[in-house]
Amino acid sequence: MSGAQFAIQARTLRREHGEERTLVRAVDEIDLDVPTGQALAVTGPSGCGKSTLLHLLGGLERPTGGALWLAGRRIDGLSERALARLRRRAVGFVFQSFHLVEELSAVQNVELPALLAGASPRAARRRAAELLDRVGLARRSAHLPAALSGGERQRVAIARALANAPLVVLADEPTGNLDSAAAREVLRLFEELRRGGQTLVIVTHDDRVAATADRLIAMRDGAFVDDVWLAGAAPGIPTALSGPGAGSTGLGGLLGMDG
Ligand SMILES: Nc1ncnc2c1ncn2[C@@H]1O[C@H](COP(=O)(O)OP(=O)(O)OP(=O)(O)O)[C@@H](O)[C@H]1O
Ligand SMILES: [Mg+2]
Repeated sequence: MSGAQFAIQARTLRREHGEERTLVRAVDEIDLDVPTGQALAVTGPSGCGKSTLLHLLGGLERPTGGALWLAGRRIDGLSERALARLRRRAVGFVFQSFHLVEELSAVQNVELPALLAGASPRAARRRAAELLDRVGLARRSAHLPAALSGGERQRVAIARALANAPLVVLADEPTGNLDSAAAREVLRLFEELRRGGQTLVIVTHDDRVAATADRLIAMRDGAFVDDVWLAGAAPGIPTALSGPGAGSTGLGGLLGMDG
């Protein structure tokens, strides 16, 4: 993890889809500073660019313009290989549709990111078992995803997102496919992560999810139209001291590219 003041910084970040007559500015010159440890919720109507923004922040898509830093380290120009390593080690993703590997048991799904990042099978299994316990699923560890409820699947996905102790957890409509009891369980986990100081960016239509955040950003047509820091959130951090690039960081270590 990193001691950098900002987990995420973006300047005039842009992403277009399509070309010429079908061109859509999904993310239209966004500036964003997410202090380390902040839980941020992004809301807005369908098609306003929330998922695109999340994909950019996590290195799943590349920006067409602007600049992006993770823990003070510029990432928008990284090679495919470095970007893949970054996603594996520094970012945890949670999706509406879970994206678990159907052929693998719960514990195998959770240990996979650690194995891919080079952990020993024993260490990966131990960490996965701990995480499943933390999300209340120790007794489901041998189950295949098909044998789990929606809420249980999402809790496995959250455990998986945490496998490599990521700098930031990015979640896209994490309760979108859940009934309200299952959503409550998942909300409780996010609240626990927030209290533990995990940097979180959650895209959501769900007011109950948004209510667990420190900060609420509303998007429309690829841009931010509102940005509210909720009561109890850390007060604004002076940005003059901490422009992009000012961060000193352990991310290079996470990426294996220090020095
Ligand atoms: N691969 C793509 N090719 C072309 N256009 C795309 C692509 N992905 C997204 N878009 C367009 O970019 C815009 C933003 O899409 P995005 O998926 O980011 O919206 P969203 O806010 O996540 O919507 P929802 O709430 O429905 O998930 C939309 O107009 C969408 O049609
Ligand atoms: Mg979306």
